[in-house]
Amino acid sequence: MKPTDYDKIVNPLLTWYASSGRDLPWRKTKDPYRIWLSEIMLQQTRVEAVKGYYDRFLTALPTVSDLAAAGEENILKLWEGLGYYSRVRYMQQAAILVTEEYEGALPADYAALLKLPGIGPYTAAAIASIAFSIPKAVVDGNVLRVITRLGEDGTDIADARFRRDMADMLDAIIPGDVPGTFNQAIMDLGAMVCTPNGIPKCEICPLARLCKAHASGTELSYPVKSSLKPRKIEKITVFIIHDGERVAIRKRPNHGLLAGMYEPVQTPGHLNEKAAVIFLESLPVDPLHVERIENAKHIFTHKEWHMIAYEVKIAAGSGDAAAGLIFTPLKETVSAYPIPSAYASYRRYLGI
Ligand code: ADE
Ligand code: SF4
Repeated sequence: MKPTDYDKIVNPLLTWYASSGRDLPWRKTKDPYRIWLSEIMLQQTRVEAVKGYYDRFLTALPTVSDLAAAGEENILKLWEGLGYYSRVRYMQQAAILVTEEYEGALPADYAALLKLPGIGPYTAAAIASIAFSIPKAVVDGNVLRVITRLGEDGTDIADARFRRDMADMLDAIIPGDVPGTFNQAIMDLGAMVCTPNGIPKCEICPLARLCKAHASGTELSYPVKSSLKPRKIEKITVFIIHDGERVAIRKRPNHGLLAGMYEPVQTPGHLNEKAAVIFLESLPVDPLHVERIENAKHIFTHKEWHMIAYEVKIAAGSGDAAAGLIFTPLKETVSAYPIPSAYASYRRYLGI
């Protein structure tokens, strides 16, 4: 496909989207706040996982000013399980700015959106086009996959200059009357037809006739991506300290990974049983029984936690609320404290 030929994708894409696009909750609204929230949630999370969170969040905080005024624990709780919690913290900071500087209404301007905390080029383009019909194309991995396959383009998609060129090309072809529809059409095509994992569904693709990779059967050779750095592995020992009724948790620091969330006691390294018992002596608890339980792994963007764990039984009603420990009734942990999904494997021990 020559660069000038890309405009041929516009009409088939729009026609396909009208009949086959996904029916998603945030597509039923023109409210910029709702569209903003959906785009923040979708930054690192799949559509299916976002749906339930989206409705619940909006029921609790229906407007920008509700979000601006909400308490930290409330917003973390609404986000619990979605991961990447800084997203909701930044969104709240942005909500405060929007309340103070724009009277609670998100600015209908790409550059102004881009200045808000938590809104990068992709999200700014998505909000600008979908909420305000501003002709700004979104460019992400899904879009680049479709485009490089269409043109059998072997440029490294990690290359910033190539991404800029593709953004310019798409800005030139995006339809001025329905830019948000075009962006969502290409997102849906990338998610449902020109898929990242496995064989793309070229037989139902509205662009198949125009697609060079399809013509030569090289779909799976694109996009070309330089290999990413391997994730750092962190070994962690988790202690589930409980008395059968209550479990000990504590708050993480207010900055860094999973800032301000709650978790069971944990410490770096994989401690053997002897080292674990010595470590427990540093805490205001008196273990009756220490037993190794199952290992778990959690994958973040740039690191992996490899967890080993001990169940630590203490006497009923014992354990001091010192050293930052909170003894929370098992039945209440989930409703009272935001616990990161990194600990999902230990859910049954934590009452979550
Ligand atoms: N991914 C990011 N934004 C999206 C949207 N509006 N629709 C579908 N997938 C998306
Ligand atoms: Fe992707 Fe196949 Fe469509 Fe080409 S024809 S854009 S490879 S789904």
